[in-house]
Amino acid sequence: MGYVELKYKPKQDDVVCLFYVEPAGISLKKAAEHVAAESSIGTWTDVKTLSESIKKRLKARVFSIDVRKKIIKIAYPIELFELGNVPQLLSSIAGNIFGMKAVKNLRLLDVRLPQEYIKHFSGPQFGVHGIRRLLNISKRPLLGTIIKPKLGLNEKHHAKTAYHAWIGGCDIVKDDENLTNMRFNKFADRVIETLSMRDKAQDETGEIKVYMPNVTAETIQMLERVEFVKQQGGKYVMVDIITVGFSALQTLRKATGNYKLVLHAHRAMHAAMTRNKKHGVSMLTIAKLCRLIGVDQLHIGTIIGKMEGSNEVLAIHNELQEAIIKQVVVKEKNYTYSLLEQKWLLKPVFSVCSGGLCPLHVPKLMQLFGNNIIIQMGGGIHGHPKGTIAGAKAARQAIDAVMQGTKIKQYARTHKELGLALKKWQTKVRLK
Ligand code: 3PG
Ligand code: 3PG
Ligand code: MG
Repeated sequence: MGYVELKYKPKQDDVVCLFYVEPAGISLKKAAEHVAAESSIGTWTDVKTLSESIKKRLKARVFSIDVRKKIIKIAYPIELFELGNVPQLLSSIAGNIFGMKAVKNLRLLDVRLPQEYIKHFSGPQFGVHGIRRLLNISKRPLLGTIIKPKLGLNEKHHAKTAYHAWIGGCDIVKDDENLTNMRFNKFADRVIETLSMRDKAQDETGEIKVYMPNVTAETIQMLERVEFVKQQGGKYVMVDIITVGFSALQTLRKATGNYKLVLHAHRAMHAAMTRNKKHGVSMLTIAKLCRLIGVDQLHIGTIIGKMEGSNEVLAIHNELQEAIIKQVVVKEKNYTYSLLEQKWLLKPVFSVCSGGLCPLHVPKLMQLFGNNIIIQMGGGIHGHPKGTIAGAKAARQAIDAVMQGTKIKQYARTHKELGLALKKWQTKVRLK
C-alpha cells in the first residue's frame, strides 16, 4: 500500500494523530497501513484514478510504530483538510476507520493541530482570565451548582433554588444537561425568572453571580435561545457539545461571539465514544477540538467523583490551560502514552470539575488540579441536610478553608454548614 514511512519526519503544518491499534488477524504494520489509507486518500484496493503524484502529495504517513504498546503515529498533509471545518476533520481522522474489519479495536488518543490549521478558528472568547475578570474573582476556584432535581421543578421553583444557591455562596448556577424547553419548565420563562433572581442575589451579596441556561436544541432554535438570553441580560449560555454536534457548536460559537456571551460546554454522551480505552476517541481529543472551536468552559471530569476518569483528566486540564501540570503520561490498563506536543496561541479554557462532588472532595480536587478550576456540585449542595442555602455555604466554606491552608475538618468546627455536610457524606465518599 505504501503508507508506512518510518523515516518520515512530520512537517510543521502536518496534522499528527496518535492511535492505539489492535489488528484483526494481520500485523500491526498492515493494520496501520489501512488506518492511514482509509483516513486520507485510500480504499481497500488500488484504484486506477489515483496517480503516484497525487498519492505522494496527499497520502497520510505512518511514521512511528510501537509494536509492544500497539501505538502508532500518523502524519496528514494539511491539504487533506478543509480549513475551519471540524466535522470534515473528524470525517477523516475519526471516520470510517473505526468500522474497518482490519482492526479489532482502534482508539484515537491524541491529535496535534498545526498553527496553519488553528489560525482559522477563534478559540475561546473569554477563557480563564476573561471569566475571572467578569466574575471579579482572581484566585480561588469558582463555585457552581446544577439545579437538582435535574428535571422536575417549574420555572419559579427553579429560580428560587438558584437564588438560594447564590446567596449561600455559589458564583454560578447552571441548568442540567437535559433541561431545555419542557412542558413543565419553559425555557423563556425560566430565563426571565432566574435572571431576575440573579439580580436580587447580586444586590444582596455584593458579588457577581451568573446563570448558564441550557440552549441545547436544533441549531436555528438554539440561536434564537441565545439571542433571547442576551436580550434578557444574561451573560452566559451552556450547551451539550456532543449531542448538538460539532457543526452546531461552531455555529453557536459564532453567535456567542457576536453577542459577547460566555460559552459553557457540557459533554453528555462523550463516554459512548471515550470510555472504552481500546476503541473510540479520547476525551483529550474532544477537549482539544473544544478549545479550537472556542468554548470558554468544559467539563473534564473529576478523577474522584461519580464519573469514570483516569489521570487522562489531568492531561486534559493541562492541555486546556497549558502546562499547569507538566509532562502528564496517560496511564491506561494496557498502555501508556505522552501527549503530542501542541502549540496553541488561543486563550485557555476553564476546566469544570463536576459529577458526584460534595464539599469533602474540595481539598483533593484543588491538590490535583490547582485553583484554576470551576467546582460544580449538584447533589453535593441540594442534598445538604439543611437545604440549598446551607449546602452552598458548606461548599464555599470548603474552598475558603483550602485557600487559607486550613484542614476542612478543623474549619468545620467553627462553620456549622460544612460540619453537617462532612457528617452526612464522610462515610459515603471515596477520595481515590
Ligand atoms: C461530566 O463532566 O461528565 C458531568 O459533569 C457529569 O455529571 P452529570 O452527568 O450529572 O451531568
Ligand atoms: C452536571 O451536569 O455536571 C451534573 O449534573 C452534576 O451533578 P452532581 O453533582 O449531582 O453529580
Ligand atoms: Mg448533569
